[in-house]
Amino acid sequence: MSRKIWVFDTTLRDGEQVPGAKLNLYEKVEIAQQLKKLGVDIIEAGFPASSQGDFDAVQAVAQKVGKTSDIMITALARAVQADIDSVYHAVKGAENPMIHMVLGTSDIHVEKKFSKSKDQILQIGVDAVKYAKTLLPEVQYSTEDASRSEFEYLWKTIEAVMKAGATMINVPDTVGYAEPEEFGAMIYKLNDRMKNLNPNVLLSVHCHNDLGMATANTLAAIKNGADKVECTINGIGERAGNAALEEVVMALNTRHAIYNADTRINTKEIMNTSRLVSSFMGLDVQVNKAITGDNAFAHSSGIHQDGLLKSRDAYEIVHPEDVGLDDMELILTARSGRHAVKNALEKLGFSQLAPEDFEGIFEGFLALADAKKEVYDHDLYVIVENYYEKHDKTNVTNYSDHFFEVEDLQVISNSSFPSASVKIRKGGEVFKASAVGTGPIDALYSAIAEITTIKVKLVEYDISSVSRGKDALGKVKIIVEHDGEKYIAKAADTDILKASAFAYMNAINSVVSAGLRKVSVEEMAITR
Ligand code: KIV
Ligand code: ZN
Repeated sequence: MSRKIWVFDTTLRDGEQVPGAKLNLYEKVEIAQQLKKLGVDIIEAGFPASSQGDFDAVQAVAQKVGKTSDIMITALARAVQADIDSVYHAVKGAENPMIHMVLGTSDIHVEKKFSKSKDQILQIGVDAVKYAKTLLPEVQYSTEDASRSEFEYLWKTIEAVMKAGATMINVPDTVGYAEPEEFGAMIYKLNDRMKNLNPNVLLSVHCHNDLGMATANTLAAIKNGADKVECTINGIGERAGNAALEEVVMALNTRHAIYNADTRINTKEIMNTSRLVSSFMGLDVQVNKAITGDNAFAHSSGIHQDGLLKSRDAYEIVHPEDVGLDDMELILTARSGRHAVKNALEKLGFSQLAPEDFEGIFEGFLALADAKKEVYDHDLYVIVENYYEKHDKTNVTNYSDHFFEVEDLQVISNSSFPSASVKIRKGGEVFKASAVGTGPIDALYSAIAEITTIKVKLVEYDISSVSRGKDALGKVKIIVEHDGEKYIAKAADTDILKASAFAYMNAINSVVSAGLRKVSVEEMAITR
């Protein structure tokens, strides 16, 4: 029978330790609501003794998100009374509150950090657990730096705090030093002894990613008996981060025959959670990050696109739909082959192309793809139109009449009236508009929207630098929503305002393309 693995999410505590990622109370509550929707079992909401602000935020999470029995709310304390009191007062409003405390067990921590004897530290831990138990029934004890601790001392500590009443024992690889086989063997031994002592106490792991092995170590622990895993969304956390929740969960699902373990996670909420965390914390997700990176389901090489179009399982082990994405993404670039381009054209309705016409259009595609990094649907329409015009076909449909192109723009940034003016071409016509906004980008997008009159909601705006130095390219990625559909668009330019305008224009043109695509093939067919 498959085992249940408890998922303890520490995005709001270990994740928030990332420099610059501090959240305010409202953001913490919103992320906690989303984590609940995702289906985590336990939320670690913060470190209340660190500041009044964090205390208030943890308290708000406990009261607003923790008022149901299906989720446990906790927060971190050092093994000292003041911290434990602070956690208690912050989480007690939850229906299922827990006190989590941490104290080191490695020689480095005991001798160098605390300058105490092992016996003294063990006693401090036991006393702290006994005290916490007078406040709440659920107490987790973390043996900090467990993976670098002398095993018998680690066990002596665990045995003592279990006898003192700890209900969960968390074994952290605090500095990401562990190696999967070695860590798995340690967990196996601990699990064996713990289950003999008290089978109701959960064995948990908390792995850091300093050597890139956090997910592997977490999975090795599950294989060797761990009941619970501590993770963060997008793998954020102290230094190189923690085990990524989405990686651990999708590995358990995808390789179920190996792990024979399940979580309660609703995987379809993974992408929503990842995007929320990334945007609130201002932490970009590495593009090639497993599961939640921009390219995790994007296929660009011609060989792969051809294989996928023949059979998805040729290059796809996780379906994008399973993590809440619409579909796999075949990005049309200069490396895309004929099969992918043909498929994209067919989706736009060009399914009856004569072989020589397809070849001509494919040539046009390659020329544009060489000049432009990614080719969008609206570019394909224009390539088709240009091809037919050039080859003197009659009754050519003017697809370019439907699409917008930014010709010029001016943006004024000041605190009173951030404003923008734009000049946009649509087919043979040129339009101008100006707008004032809450900021320069808002003004720019409002001015463009006045011309396009296509109503979209800006869901995400993300800007990053592609290269270094004063000629650095600014890359803008946006997600807009129109009629319940999400459209992702990108653009890059040395002028970030231009990149912002081009990205928005690409998104609008994608909405236009989608509208055209809905028109029947016969109506769209070019009469020759
Ligand atoms: O990495 C660590 O050891 C921790 C503990 C507080 C669990 O974050
Ligand atoms: Zn940690």
